[in-house]
Amino acid sequence: MALTIASTSKLNSGVEMPLLGLGVYQTSPGRATEEAVKFALKIGYRHIDTASLYGNEESVGRAVRESGVPREQVFVTTKLWNSDHGYEAALRAFEKSQRRLGLDYVDLYLIHWPVSQLRDESWRALVELQRRGSCRAIGVSNYTVRHLDELLGGSSVVPDIDQVEFNPFLYQEELLRYCKDKRIQLEAYSPLTRGQRLRDPVVLEVARNYSKSPAQILIRWSLQHGLVVIPKSARPERIRENSEVFDFEISTADMSRLDSLGENLHMDWDPTDAV
Ligand SMILES: NC(=O)c1ccc[n+]([C@@H]2O[C@H](COP(=O)([O-])OP(=O)(O)OC[C@H]3O[C@@H](n4cnc5c(N)ncnc54)[C@H](OP(=O)(O)O)[C@@H]3O)[C@@H](O)[C@H]2O)c1
Repeated sequence: MALTIASTSKLNSGVEMPLLGLGVYQTSPGRATEEAVKFALKIGYRHIDTASLYGNEESVGRAVRESGVPREQVFVTTKLWNSDHGYEAALRAFEKSQRRLGLDYVDLYLIHWPVSQLRDESWRALVELQRRGSCRAIGVSNYTVRHLDELLGGSSVVPDIDQVEFNPFLYQEELLRYCKDKRIQLEAYSPLTRGQRLRDPVVLEVARNYSKSPAQILIRWSLQHGLVVIPKSARPERIRENSEVFDFEISTADMSRLDSLGENLHMDWDPTDAV
């Protein structure tokens, strides 16, 4: 069936997660975040990705509450920051995030980074939070195959999500195959390479083939690989542009050309060696 802005992925927990979300990393707290989130919800986005680290959970929560969209129709993700790992610390950190968001529950709570030694304890806390009904789905972020293997070796609860950096310039095929096999939904962050590869000649040529922008091509590429994708913009015209990715399909040949752009590009941090 053709994808639309309302398309979802059914996670292990049974929760339906919208495939397209708005990222708000580096969107300033206050008006900028509130306006971006409200605008996105007005034009059909139903999924917002924040984190304790981003400092804008309060603004996200306010915008969701004031948007007029029923709470149960909006999917809100937040994340456990690195300094809050450990069983009790993670439970406390979640409570603080939930208070800042001002929401009765969080749709998805993620471990932001595989912090050494403490991540398994933190995972137990997330399992407990889901059992209590405080969050509907739980998952991890920046986990490699090695980190996922370790987690699955110690827990019978499979993460709903692994949120990782993913775009044609960091095409993580092995992780994608692994997650499909384990029924972990992979979610693409920095899907636009933070703007760094939007003028790549192959991306530009593919964009011309469909009369679409480079950003739309990169978002559509992630969707066609089966990922949930969360482009960030604080500008209304780009938030709209990034949602107009459901009226075309990239051909198999053009997908292959994009697939071949891999250069192990990391915009920020690389978890490969995280012990
Ligand atoms: N779990 C993690 O460790 C992690 C790490 C990084 C990000 N994330 C999540 O993933 C989200 C997205 O990743 P990201 O923010 O790193 O990068 P991104 O979405 O790849 O790129 C965002 C950048 O691209 C620009 N942009 C947006 N739409 C555009 C368009 N249509 N044309 C041209 N430029 C455009 C934005 O500028 P303007 O805002 O000025 O439009 C911004 O500078 C984050 O916001 C966050 O929610 C998670």
